[in-house]
Amino acid sequence: MSQPIALVTGAGGEMGHLLIPALREQGVGVIALDLVELDESIREQCVETVTASILETDVLADLIGRHTPTYVFHLAAVLSRKAEIEPDLAHRVNVDGTYELLKLCRRAPEQTPVRFMFPSSIAVYGLPNPTVKQEAGAVKETEWTVPSGVYGCNKLYCELLGAHLTRTPGMPDFRSIRFPGLISAETLPAGGTTDYAPEMIHAAAQGRSYKCFVLRDAKLPFMTMPDGIDALVRLALADPGRLSRRAYNVRGFASKASDIRSEVLKHYPEADIGFDPDPARQVLVDSWPEDVDDTLAQKDWGFSPKHGLSQALSDYLVPAMKKRYAAVAGG
Ligand SMILES: NC(=O)c1ccc[n+]([C@@H]2O[C@H](COP(=O)([O-])OP(=O)(O)OC[C@H]3O[C@@H](n4cnc5c(N)ncnc54)[C@H](O)[C@@H]3O)[C@@H](O)[C@H]2O)c1
Repeated sequence: MSQPIALVTGAGGEMGHLLIPALREQGVGVIALDLVELDESIREQCVETVTASILETDVLADLIGRHTPTYVFHLAAVLSRKAEIEPDLAHRVNVDGTYELLKLCRRAPEQTPVRFMFPSSIAVYGLPNPTVKQEAGAVKETEWTVPSGVYGCNKLYCELLGAHLTRTPGMPDFRSIRFPGLISAETLPAGGTTDYAPEMIHAAAQGRSYKCFVLRDAKLPFMTMPDGIDALVRLALADPGRLSRRAYNVRGFASKASDIRSEVLKHYPEADIGFDPDPARQVLVDSWPEDVDDTLAQKDWGFSPKHGLSQALSDYLVPAMKKRYAAVAGG
């Protein structure tokens, strides 16, 4: 049997960097696309790489036609911060781009549908104020889906569209994960509203001072990038009969910004981490849940994260950053 193929869009981003090796470990060949030319380290792992926008449908149609992928991991997106500043661009890329790609994945009704993996976000939730946020605690997938930002609206619409199209013969088998803030040791984030957590840790590891852009008490769910990739691959491989819904919550831990700072200080006692909240980003953080209920992901497809906050630092981030920044310092 020939090797299954996955098309990964937005492959040059934070998630792509760890997803591509994880797919190769599963014996899946990767074709990768990004707006920006991909690093050599990614290119050498792929069957084919393309520098293009997901809005160039002729390029995508050609790739899909030549490789007939079993899976699509549609990572390309305009992230939350930029989406609020450039809502037209966000709509074109996040909504129009996703719809066009879903249509390009159509197969004949008698063929196995493409498994279309869509990383959604906790931004699909919208709590009206911090008091309600605190009272709501860990929200379920069906609660508070009234986003307060453009990015959350984009993601929620695509989730609903994907779930709807899944019921049409020949259209992709759409599966989505509502990711919390993802923390990677391998890459630095850009453009997300949860970036303060990874930025704080990367700054401490490099001996740089850092001003956190949300309040000390701001609480959100997070997970490490390896746990996020594990979730995405597990859901992609899950038997369709086991799925009770199309969009799932996942989380590794839920922490206040001050808790993350304290945990970082245990490993980097000299770290200089202060707080200088940005009102625009604080508004979004106040509307996102302080935690999510991931019971269904555990039950339906065996989601099981390795890292709580303390393990995230001790078992993954600190050791990986030591290597990363030693290598940078050593040239
Ligand atoms: N990082 C997080 O904390 C987080 C949390 C929730 C959801 N997500 C979602 O996960 C996915 C991947 O996130 P990430 O952290 O890797 O983001 P990222 O910003 O690091 O990567 C996104 C990639 O998409 C590419 N891209 C943007 N517009 C494009 C276009 N028009 N055509 C082709 N490529 C384009 C960018 O060049 C970039 O390489 C996104 O859909 C994001 O919304 C991320």
